[in-house]
Amino acid sequence: MRVLLLGSGGREHALAWKIAQSSILEALFIAPGNAGTRQHGTNVDLSVNDFDGIKAFVLENEVDTIVVGPEDPLVNGIADYFDADAEVNVAVIGPNKVAAQLEGSKDFAKEFMKRHNIPTAKYATFTKDTLKEGQAFLEKMKSPYVLKADGLAAGKGVLIIEDLKEAKAELKNMLADAKFGEASSRVVIEEFLSGVELSCFVITDGDAYKILPEAKDYKRIGEGDTGLNTGGMGALSPVPFANPTFKDKVKNQVIIPTVKGLKADGIPYKGFIFFGLINVRNEPYVIEYNCRMGDPETEVVIPRLKSDILDLFEGVATNTLSERDVQFDERSAATVMMVSGGYPEAYEKGKQIYGLNVVSDSIVFHAGTKADGPVVTTNGGRVLAATSFGKDVASALKRSYESLDKIEFEKSYYRSDIGHDVL
Ligand code: AMP
Ligand code: GLY
Repeated sequence: MRVLLLGSGGREHALAWKIAQSSILEALFIAPGNAGTRQHGTNVDLSVNDFDGIKAFVLENEVDTIVVGPEDPLVNGIADYFDADAEVNVAVIGPNKVAAQLEGSKDFAKEFMKRHNIPTAKYATFTKDTLKEGQAFLEKMKSPYVLKADGLAAGKGVLIIEDLKEAKAELKNMLADAKFGEASSRVVIEEFLSGVELSCFVITDGDAYKILPEAKDYKRIGEGDTGLNTGGMGALSPVPFANPTFKDKVKNQVIIPTVKGLKADGIPYKGFIFFGLINVRNEPYVIEYNCRMGDPETEVVIPRLKSDILDLFEGVATNTLSERDVQFDERSAATVMMVSGGYPEAYEKGKQIYGLNVVSDSIVFHAGTKADGPVVTTNGGRVLAATSFGKDVASALKRSYESLDKIEFEKSYYRSDIGHDVL
């Protein structure tokens, strides 16, 4: 296969690392990639949303498969773009625009779950014209109040507020004053669910699906899960509390109804589905769907995949996923993110990274890094993720921390308590 992988984060480095191990790979290009992905293929200077530029590259380089890392191009319709174009014959691993609404619109996702009886928090959706009704709805709910901007808001569109007056004011900010721009022209208000979160993943061709290992990520910047939300500061897999009984419930109450529901609704879905779940008294509820893999979850899930990932992608592209075999490494995997000081707020870039070649017990996945000849510098908030295996989560984490001790750049930071709640 001749593959173009879109994206530039730790998720894409982990995917590139895995794709490069495939026996059916002929060529791998990554756009735009980072200093890590160039170890496994050719980085191409193209934006993930430049569909015309991607098309020209695909034609020139005889790419047959596009693997989409982030949600943006999916929600913007990259699959539809190539589907509609008779000039190019390329498979897109990632859902089309309508299917990507599972992530791109909270209201779409909630309607979908209601229609198919998939457990999720009770909710109602409001617009500028129904602001008064929304505020009245809040009065009937219990604190804390959960307000969600309907559209993509770079992970910032969910507000959880204790005080009723503040919640009503924020609802107005979102709806009437466009706090998150067009994304908050509709707002979902939902019941607050209390429990432990985890992420589950499947890959599907629209009919068959394969369940990938589950993972848990650590979203907050500070130790003890405090401070601002980030893209994710670390992850582990498997999740110790996800026992077989719980996973059966996830499969029967969430995964199967989702895949069947999409088909019943006439929505062809090809690619990864990410289920953001919460365990409420041993019952799984869906907090959100994403139409792509997670980051940093990919950095622990994909290394645990023993099967050839291009064989699975071929199954997705040709509707033959049911015939493909999928095997996983039984060991535990953990990853810890090293970030630029100041992230997720203002931080500096361009700091030289030392010690990358000294690490041997972990896989170092690059996220925000840039290559300048042999020199690697920081180029983002989340800089790299050290992934390790172990007989259990504790030993995997220990290895990742030992590896991060050997890597240095100015003002680096990482959480030293990843896994604190499950150890
Ligand atoms: P989302 O973008 O929908 O995943 O929401 C971001 C985060 O807000 C989630 O990861 C949860 O930690 C939290 N959250 C979202 N919805 C709820 C809810 N209904 N109850 C409790 N926490 C929630
Ligand atoms: N780590 C959460 C996400 O990728 O959305």
